[in-house]
Order: sequence, then C-alpha cells, then structure tokens
Amino acid sequence: MEIFTMLFVLSSFLFCPSISAAKDIITPTVSLRDGESLVSSGGTFELGFFSPGNSKNRYVGIWYKGISPQIVVWVANRETPLTDLSGALNITDGGALVLFSDKNGSLWSSNFTSRTLRSPVAQLLESGNLVVKDKNANNSEGNLVWQSFDYPGNILLPGMKLGWNLETGINRVLSSWKAAEDPSPGEFSYSIDHSGYPQLVLRKGRVPHYRLGSWNGLGFTGSPELSPNEAFKIEFVSNDSEAYYKFDLMSNSMHSRLVLNLSGGLQRFLWIDKTHSGNMIYSAPADRCDTYDLCGAFAFCKLDSVPLCSCLQGFVPKSPRDYWTLKNTSSGCLPKGQSNCTNQDGFQKFVRVKLPDTSSSRINNTMSLEECKKMCLTNCSCTAYANLDVRGGGAGCLLWFGELIDIKQFDSVGQDLFVRMPPSELDGAKTSKHSGVKRKVAIIVGSGAVVMGMLILGLVFYIQKKKSKVRGNMKNIREKNFGFEGGSEDMELITFDLATVSRATDNFSDNTKLGQGGFGPVYKGILKEGQNIAVKRLSKYSGQGTKEFMNEVVLIAKLQHRNLVKLLGCCIEGDEKMLIYEYMPNKSLDHFIFDDIRSKFLNWDQRINIIGGIARGLLYLHQDSRLRIIHRDLKTSNVLLDKDMNPKISDFGTAREFGGDQTEENTNRVVGTYGYMSPEYVVDGLFSVKSDVYSFGVMVLEILSGKKNRGFHHPDHQLNLLGHVS
Ligand SMILES: *[C@@H]1O[C@H](CO)[C@@H](O)[C@H](O)[C@H]1NC(C)=O
Ligand SMILES: *[C@@H]1O[C@H](CO)[C@@H](O)[C@H](O)[C@H]1NC(C)=O
Ligand SMILES: *[C@@H]1O[C@H](CO)[C@@H](O)[C@H](O)[C@H]1NC(C)=O
Ligand SMILES: *[C@@H]1O[C@H](CO)[C@@H](O)[C@H](O)[C@H]1NC(C)=O
Ligand SMILES: *[C@@H]1O[C@H](CO)[C@@H](O)[C@H](O)[C@H]1NC(C)=O
Ligand SMILES: *[C@@H]1O[C@H](CO)[C@@H](O)[C@H](O)[C@H]1NC(C)=O
Ligand SMILES: *[C@@H]1O[C@H](CO)[C@@H](O)[C@H](O)[C@H]1NC(C)=O
Ligand SMILES: *[C@@H]1O[C@H](CO)[C@@H](O)[C@H](O)[C@H]1NC(C)=O
Ligand SMILES: *[C@@H]1O[C@H](CO)[C@@H](O)[C@H](O)[C@H]1NC(C)=O
Ligand SMILES: *[C@@H]1O[C@H](CO)[C@@H](O)[C@H](O)[C@H]1NC(C)=O
Repeated sequence: MEIFTMLFVLSSFLFCPSISAAKDIITPTVSLRDGESLVSSGGTFELGFFSPGNSKNRYVGIWYKGISPQIVVWVANRETPLTDLSGALNITDGGALVLFSDKNGSLWSSNFTSRTLRSPVAQLLESGNLVVKDKNANNSEGNLVWQSFDYPGNILLPGMKLGWNLETGINRVLSSWKAAEDPSPGEFSYSIDHSGYPQLVLRKGRVPHYRLGSWNGLGFTGSPELSPNEAFKIEFVSNDSEAYYKFDLMSNSMHSRLVLNLSGGLQRFLWIDKTHSGNMIYSAPADRCDTYDLCGAFAFCKLDSVPLCSCLQGFVPKSPRDYWTLKNTSSGCLPKGQSNCTNQDGFQKFVRVKLPDTSSSRINNTMSLEECKKMCLTNCSCTAYANLDVRGGGAGCLLWFGELIDIKQFDSVGQDLFVRMPPSELDGAKTSKHSGVKRKVAIIVGSGAVVMGMLILGLVFYIQKKKSKVRGNMKNIREKNFGFEGGSEDMELITFDLATVSRATDNFSDNTKLGQGGFGPVYKGILKEGQNIAVKRLSKYSGQGTKEFMNEVVLIAKLQHRNLVKLLGCCIEGDEKMLIYEYMPNKSLDHFIFDDIRSKFLNWDQRINIIGGIARGLLYLHQDSRLRIIHRDLKTSNVLLDKDMNPKISDFGTAREFGGDQTEENTNRVVGTYGYMSPEYVVDGLFSVKSDVYSFGVMVLEILSGKKNRGFHHPDHQLNLLGHVS
C-alpha cells in the first residue's frame, strides 16, 4: 500500500507537474503560470507548460487534451526553453503575449501590439488556434489581432493555412523539430514556393527534397495526398494577395493532423475517438521517384522501370558515358535535334505525369489549351505547357520556361504534359527507329491506325446517313421500341446526339473517366445547361453488350423509383451506344464500405438507411413496379450513392423481366458476379427473385462488416464471409 502511494506521488511528480487550474482566457490581470492550463471550449485542445520526453526544459505549447502519449501541436518558445517552473504567460495591455521567467525576464513574445485594443484577451479556440483579440469581439478571422495558426511548428491542423499572405508578407511554413526532445526548428521545412506557379516543396536546409507538386484544381499533381475524397475539403488559393493551401475536415467528429517529422517525412493521421492519436493514412515521400530531381532535366522517373530514369522522347542523355556505361542517370538529358525555334515546332504529349517543377513557370487562368500552345510557340524559351486546372475537362494554361525537372510518370494518376520539340522529333515524323521493340510497336500502332482510319470512315459515312434522319441537339421522341423483346410498351426517352455527349465529356477524355464497367467505361459529363451526367459508353468493338444495352434502356426507362438510378436518355449513333444517367457524386457503395477512411463516414444510421433503401428498390423491382424484374447482378459496386448518401441501384445490363406469375426460370448463360450469386443459380442456372435476395443478403453482411465476401480471410479457416458468419 505504501509503495503504491509512493509510486503514485512519484509519478505525479514526474509526469504531471501539478496541472491544477484550468482557465479559459488570459488577460492583462490574469496570467497563465506553469502548472495551469487553458482548455478549448470543446475540450479538444489544451495550452500549458510541458517538457518533451525526458527533457527538463519547459515549453509553452498546445496539445490534444487527454491523448497519451502527449502530442504537442504547437510550441511558443521553441528555441528559448525555461529551465525551471517559474514561467508565466502574460498578455500586455497592447495585446502582446509574453513569456516571462522569474530569473531571465522575457523569453518569448508574440511581437504584436496594437493601440486599438481596449481589453485584450488570449483564448484557445476549439480548432487549436491560440488567438489574441478584443474581449468583446467574436472569433471571426477579421477580429483576431494575432493567432498561433500564423506561426506553425511541425504540425498542420485543419483550418491552418500553409503559405503566403503576400500583402503582409507572412509566410507560414512547417518546420520539423530538431530532436524528439527539442522543438527548435530542425533542418526540414515544408512550404509554398511561389517563384513560379505556387507549389508545395519539402526542403532539407535550402535544398528541395520532395515536391508535392503544383495544384491542378483537384489535388497536387500526381500526389495522392488529399486527392478529392470524403474526409477532407482542400483549399488552394493563389492570387495577388495570397498563395496558400489548407484542409478542413468534412465532419466535426473527425480529427486529423499533418506532421513533418524528424526525418523529413510527411505523415497524415486521421481519427475519430478523442482519446486516440490516430491512424497514419498517408506518408510522403513514398518511393524513390519522389526524390526531387532524381533524373535531371528533361528526364522522367518511373517506378518498376530499369533504370528508374529515362530521357523524355526526343531527348538524349547529356553525358552518354555516365548514362549508358555507369548507369548514372542524374545528369539528365538534352534535346536531340537542334531546335531553331520556328513556328514549325510541335509538342509531344506525355501522359499521366507529375508535372515538372513550376519554379520557372507562368500561368494564365483563362486561356484554353490551344491558346496555351500558341502562347508557348511565341516564346523561344518556352519548353512545355499543360492545363492549369483539370476539372471539367481542363482549363487555364501553365507554361514552363527552361529545363523541365522532377517529372514522374504514373500508371493511373497524373496529367498530360506537352513538351516542345522540333518537327523532326515528333511522333508523326518517325520513320527509321532504333530498337526492334519500338519498330514492332510502330507497326502495330501503324496497322491499328489503318484499321482505325477505315472504321472512322465507315463511322462518318454511317453518321452522315443517320444525320439526315435524326436532326437537332436534344429532343424528346416517343420511341416505340428498340426491336427488343421486352420493350413493347411506349416510353418517353431523350436521345442525345454524339456531339453533345462528346462535348459534355471533353471528348471522352481520361480526366472525365469515372470508372470501368463490365461493358465499357463510364464518364462524367457536364451538359451546356450545367447539369452533371454520367455517361456509360459501351465499348465499340465488344459486339457483346448490344443486347444488354437495349435491355437496360427499355427496362430502366420504364422504372421510376427513388432507389433506382435515373436514366436521363441514351445516345445511339453509328457504332456508339451510350446511356446517360443522373450523376451520383458519391460513387458506389463499395467505394465507401471497403475503404479504411471513407468507411468512417458511414455511421450506423446511414448504413441502416442504405440497407433499407436497397431493400425498397429491390421490392419495387420484384413486386411494386408494373413489371417484375430480376436484377441478377446486385452487388455493392452496383449500388450508387447520391449526395445525401441515399442508395440507388444501377446497372440493369443483366436484368430480366418476368411475367406476372412466373417465379423462376432457367438460363444457360449465367451472368453475375461470383460471391453474390446464389448457389442454385451458379450451379443450375436457376434464377428467381430469390437470387436477388441472396445477393442482397451478401451485401447486408458486407455493409455491416466492411469486409468483402470474396476477399475475406480468417486465420482459423478458409471460409468466405458467408461461411464465417454461418
Ligand atoms: C504577469 O501577469 C501577472 C498577473 O497579472 C502579474 O502579477 C505579473 O507581474 C506579470 N508578470 C510580468 C513579468 O509582467
Ligand atoms: C536564464 O538564462 C541563462 C543563460 O541564458 C540560462 O543558463 C538559464 O538556464 C536561464 N534560466 C531560466 C530559468 O530560464
Ligand atoms: C520578436 O522580435 C524579436 C526581435 O525583433 C525576434 O528576435 C523574435 O524572433 C520575434 N519573435 C517572433 C515570435 O516573431
Ligand atoms: C463577427 O465579427 C465580424 C466582423 O466584425 C462580423 O462581420 C460578424 O457578423 C460577427 N459575427 C457574429 C456572429 O457576431
Ligand atoms: C484571393 O483569394 C482569397 C480567398 O479566396 C480572397 O479572399 C481574396 O480576396 C483574393 N484576393 C484577390 C486579390 O483576388
Ligand atoms: C518520418 O516519416 C517517414 C514517412 O512516413 C517515415 O518513414 C519515418 O520513419 C518517420 N521518421 C520518424 C523519426 O518518425
Ligand atoms: C552521377 O554523376 C553526377 C555528376 O554528373 C555525380 O555528381 C554523382 O556523384 C554521380 N553519382 C554516382 C552514383 O556515381
Ligand atoms: C537550324 O538552322 C541551321 C542553320 O540555319 C540548319 O543547318 C539546321 O538544319 C536547322 N535545323 C532544323 C532542325 O531546322
Ligand atoms: C490571359 O489570356 C487572355 C486571353 O489570351 C488575355 O486576354 C489575358 O490578358 C491573359 N492574362 C494574363 C494575366 O496574362
Ligand atoms: C519569354 O519568356 C521569358 C520568361 O517568362 C521572358 O523572360 C522573356 O522575356 C520572354 N521572351 C519573349 C520574346 O517574350
């Protein structure tokens, strides 16, 4: 017992230097002494005196209240620690925060004074921001005379700006700690470089170490950090008065922090439970290609390729001996052909790249890509251009002058970059080629082109013929049927012409692609009227799928229910067959429930609502509609979510219409997705409404468990999720 008490006394002496009183504000007459603390209104953050690790030095800082071990998010006197417990944080009549020690006087100050403050107070806001303001003023940004958010340490919190206020000259930079027990600024910093188009750069000393890249309207080019998602709202502002980046959380119940750690790594944590310090959901630099300028000028880095670095097409190694013999690719590349800078110059397109360093770039927000190209041709030192903003099919102009540095090529993400080169180096001008592989590729591409050409000719011919019949942009037609068995009833359907759809989806560009369905890609489009649409384009050459297409059009046009995705119209022109749907901003259910982060946004109420919604949609299909329809491919990826997370069943390509009293049918063509198909259907091809109910059951289990039926692993057995549950 005695030992126990002693231990307790000892530990409270060692770890908890008598945090006694909690206050809510500091005023010129109420200071904060060592041992006291300020707590934010919601209790998330606490400001007070602390000692990092085993250090005896005392610092004033802000940390998450109640999280152990302590995570300090901000430190006032980073470089000037107190060495005893005599510290006091005071606020002067002018509103300056000053940290005093008994022996040494002022150790740190916020350096701000204002004559206009009547009664200054310092307060810790629930966001973790320590602010100085007038006592009666509210907490809106304009009323704060000083805020700790303007002087970040190694952590960026939601709502904090990273970057420049160009009017006041304040530059908010993250800087790493020197050591785990020394919060003074270490050698790594993370900031916005605005010498060209602003970009986020992580430096070691003054040397760039990693570049998150420039902003492209959705995220930082080629970086997965905070690409559009449901957890964060990202803001990037670049204009004459500001250049900053900040993130906010979509939900108040979440917490997140971005840390620049001791070894120069960026780590993002996300959590919900207030007593938890969070899971790391992102870290950077992530791979070798993230190393700044690994490959030198006019070269790109691609993971999994050997060597990692290659010259851009049209460029040759600057030092061939280093490059080929010593395999040292760091010296970079040079243009192959002498460019005389004529109007004959062209641009080679490189796809899926992280755009090069923008420190010597210029932008124009309003130019189109074509104007951008012309602009680049007028200046001999312009070496490349790209879209500034990839949203809505691309807008704005980003021009590079001089060497192109730090390009990374990706398999899936990334942007298009157009690099200037003399006509002799452009793709079209190539005749004799170096390697056999390239020649083969050229032949394949060549013959492909001939076939394509013929197809296009055919298509043009077909379209011409068709155009004489179908005129107008978008019109209502009463379509009898599409020559399909089930479509004998009249229906109202809008047909879109190919040009409209093509314009809406930026000519089916990769940027607008939402995903790949069983019968072809799905694109996001914006109609001239501003309406968002999803376009399901049947792959032209699949042959298969035509029947399914007709099926889907006829069926779904007849179905109207709030839990079924709404078909707006279709487009049939030449070989092209497309379905135009309402756009579902939250994508599909699998996108949420199987994702570590996004799944956190689905609380139980929402899950129940989703399950109920699917059930209602299914009931409608099976019983309440004029038809009796069996979906046959119910799965989480076929359930879409609208902006309010209401579920809508989609993809009727495999659905079958049943007669009123028919209850089951045999098929010799089993379609559907393994893991969701009922045993009797898989084995005997027997399907009925029960097949859908079986799939629904699988989905319910998946929604509740967040695990895929077929991807389920358990150490004790080989069963899938269904087997495990039963
Ligand atoms: C700090 O504020 C307290 C309370 O108003 C006051 O007693 C103390 O003298 C101040 N310290 C200094 C160094 O001004
Ligand atoms: C005061 O400053 C001296 C010299 O800078 C330092 O050695 C001492 O530890 C400081 N004392 C306190 C209480 O901070
Ligand atoms: C306050 O000003 C002093 C002297 O100009 C400077 O040394 C100190 O770094 C400044 N502190 C802050 C927090 O800006
Ligand atoms: C807070 O102050 C700002 C600026 O003084 C004012 O525009 C805003 O309406 C105030 N908000 C509230 C809730 O009082
Ligand atoms: C810059 O952007 C910010 C945030 O959108 C805005 O408040 C500010 O007025 C803009 N400044 C200029 C000069 O456009
Ligand atoms: C810093 O972050 C990087 C990237 O996640 C990680 O590899 C490294 O171990 C971290 N360093 C420390 C000291 O935590
Ligand atoms: C590669 O070449 C550069 C100079 O071109 C040199 O600085 C670097 O040390 C070389 N790297 C290796 C691994 O030899
Ligand atoms: C560039 O100009 C030089 C001299 O005028 C000429 O010899 C060379 O062929 C030209 N190069 C190209 C790529 O046009
Ligand atoms: C951007 O381009 C447009 C159209 O060419 C031009 O009118 C405008 O002045 C340019 N803006 C800037 C800032 O260069
Ligand atoms: C070309 O662009 C560079 C960089 O912006 C600029 O310094 C130079 O004056 C421009 N030259 C011409 C002829 O416009």
